[in-house]
Amino acid sequence: MLDRRQLLVRTGAALAAGGFGATFSDLEEVAAATEADATLDWSAVRRQFRLSPGWIHMGGLLLASHPAPVRRAIERHRRGLDANPVHYLHERGPQLEAAVLRAAGAYLGARPADVALTDSTTMGLGLLYNGLDLRAGQEVLTTAHDFFATHESLRLKAARVGATVRQVRLYRDAQRATEDEIISSLVGAVGPQTRVIALTWVHSSTGVKLPLASIARALGEQRRNVLLCVDGVHGLGVESATAGSLGCDFLVAGCHKWLFGPRGTGFVWGRAQSWDAVGPTIPSFSGTATPGAAMTPGGFHSFEHRWALAEAFRFHLRIGKRRVEQRIHSLNRRLKTGLASMSHVTLVTPQSDALSAGLVCFSVDRMSPGAVVEALRRRRIVATVTPYDPPHARLSPGLLNTPADVDRVLRAIRSL
Ligand SMILES: Cc1ncc(COP(=O)(O)O)c(C=O)c1O
Repeated sequence: MLDRRQLLVRTGAALAAGGFGATFSDLEEVAAATEADATLDWSAVRRQFRLSPGWIHMGGLLLASHPAPVRRAIERHRRGLDANPVHYLHERGPQLEAAVLRAAGAYLGARPADVALTDSTTMGLGLLYNGLDLRAGQEVLTTAHDFFATHESLRLKAARVGATVRQVRLYRDAQRATEDEIISSLVGAVGPQTRVIALTWVHSSTGVKLPLASIARALGEQRRNVLLCVDGVHGLGVESATAGSLGCDFLVAGCHKWLFGPRGTGFVWGRAQSWDAVGPTIPSFSGTATPGAAMTPGGFHSFEHRWALAEAFRFHLRIGKRRVEQRIHSLNRRLKTGLASMSHVTLVTPQSDALSAGLVCFSVDRMSPGAVVEALRRRRIVATVTPYDPPHARLSPGLLNTPADVDRVLRAIRSL
């Protein structure tokens, strides 16, 4: 067994050399280590990507660029499928899918049997909410801060079965939101008919991160009668928490954003004792031996992408989940501190690490969010506009950014 320091040195060396060759058990040990004092050559991480140079990429919350190990795995599987699709699928497919589930389990701190593979967050939300055991007269409680895919999946399901959907606001002013306000707004809205609570871990509308574990605890007795379902896409690949520690029944995410997984990948994770409350929508080709397999839509997929997903989980584990979290939070803190000091800027996202993650939403006096994003684009900075009402300009500093990038972005916004 390597001691912690040797492990970290080995990990750093592997990253620096671009030699992502650690074995699976190494990865689990790396994930278990706390790397607070360890340094990592972040430029070696960045070199794994083919992002166009000369740009500051702060839109990674939408769609990932593939790192080298993911690109190599895609290429390997593509070659195998092109050479002999039937044999590659039959002879390699089952083991490759099992390896993806093992890597997902190691990353999530979960049983591989509880993971269903999907193509996106949206697909996972649709499968989960459509498949839930929800009856006429029951209620789904969701929030005004969730993404369109949650609202729409719930609307479609409720219309089919005669259930109702109710939206609640968890905070009035995101920047000043507190844990108490969020929890009391939600818990106070739960009624006797509430069967499902549908939340989003990190709101892409405001950057607010929900204190999920505290919410689950605060629900107390009510927790026993409701299913707590979470769109986790902007927490995955940022926060180090395991799936089980979030206190929810189901966690849905796409892997093609913060995790740097192949485009077109995602999962639904369910707590072992909660799976009985949901059934499949699309027939599975993976069998029904585990709840995750039964929930995994069948049909043939873009298998070279699906099977390469294992490499994205390993990539993050090799860096270390705690180190990822610390790096992303420190870049975001730097950005928010700078923005908060500008008199022509209004910061929307809370400054507290407990209530935010990797998204920073803001507005600039007398400029529309679209004009802000366009002005940044002219300065070769990639930002996005939130697709919500009201819209905001949004930046997502991540593992592909440096403190110097953040400072350049701040200078650009100061000049607007
Ligand atoms: C909170 C949230 N959920 C889901 C999605 C969609 O994810 P996917 O492309 O994986 O369906 C987005 C944005 O892309 C989002 O902001």
